[in-house]
Amino acid sequence: MLRDHFGRPVAGDHFVHHGTDLETVWDGEEVPYLTPTERFFVRNHTEPAVVDAASWRLLVTGDGVHREATYTLAELQSFSSQTQELALECTGNGRRLFADQQGQARPGTQWGLGAIGVARWTGVPLGTILRHAGLLESAVQVMAVGLDEPYVDDGVNHGRVRRPVPISKALDDVLIAWGMNGEPLPRDHGFPARLIVPGWVGIASIKWLGELRVTTTAETSPWNTKWYRMHGIGWSDTNSALDRMPVMSCLDGTSDPNGGATVGRKTRLRGRAWAGEASISRVEVSTDGGRRWADATLVGRNEPSCWVAWTLPWTPERAGSHDLVVRATDSTGRRQPERAPDNDDGYLFSAAVHYPIDVACRAAG
Ligand code: MTE
Repeated sequence: MLRDHFGRPVAGDHFVHHGTDLETVWDGEEVPYLTPTERFFVRNHTEPAVVDAASWRLLVTGDGVHREATYTLAELQSFSSQTQELALECTGNGRRLFADQQGQARPGTQWGLGAIGVARWTGVPLGTILRHAGLLESAVQVMAVGLDEPYVDDGVNHGRVRRPVPISKALDDVLIAWGMNGEPLPRDHGFPARLIVPGWVGIASIKWLGELRVTTTAETSPWNTKWYRMHGIGWSDTNSALDRMPVMSCLDGTSDPNGGATVGRKTRLRGRAWAGEASISRVEVSTDGGRRWADATLVGRNEPSCWVAWTLPWTPERAGSHDLVVRATDSTGRRQPERAPDNDDGYLFSAAVHYPIDVACRAAG
């Protein structure tokens, strides 16, 4: 039976279903570097927009550009394009761990650690389009607006899903993407075009892009004031805005066919680590609840704004339950803490994750 990271049974389509959201599950499989599109997590505030590519236009508006401009898909695609492998991760990835590990249940989609994927995105740099539209030096931000239906919550209409990106990030590495893993974006992932904001909270990567409002003063949206911001004790206006994702890591399985391990038999622990805009410098694993740590080996590509695979051989010395813990350190020196900073909405779970593992006795020869 298919089970998620925490051993709970899930539906047979490799996703945990959370209402309109789909969480990717790797059932003890080797996790590929690129997440196949049909297994990529989905997070929709409402229903996916249905957009006719032929009549679709991207509108560039606001007092931060010389004049209003519109672009057809073909016009966007006529600019010099880029293809980049980048992770996309939901701000609430790991939310369930606030309850499971810290005894603080937090409302919202109860993601395990499957609200992240790495895809090959093809598109045009946002900066190329902003400059083509006559970007003014005084512009400070770009509000990206989606074409999905306005979001209504508790009877309040919050308007279209939208969130501002500061101009420095917009001109740095943000893509307007129309391709995912070599194919046009599927409807669930933002057809015909979306933003990809590398290393930042997933909400910044607005899908079904309809408008880019470039302004010379900062505008807010509920998606950076009411939600996707830290609320609760210890958070204030100066430390609560969310942009970069934290450093995280997970255990994906063992080479033992029973998914656990056997006394005296060498097994291979493996998993992944990622860190928002950074790359990973170190992954450590403890098999005794965090008392002693061993360095895992990083395997394959280890790029900023992506993830890296890790592996560690392990020969258990005793049978019974073991508390495996994984923690990563990123290229900027951030290391996963023992506890994630608490906040009312359960954003940015960043603590080292504990995995209970049962070691079997060696079968009698
Ligand atoms: N853009 C629009 N227009 N509407 C949405 O509901 N969800 C956001 C973001 N962009 C969303 C959106 C959130 S919260 C996340 S995590 C990512 O899209 C998810 O992208 P995916 O569904 O392609 O994985």
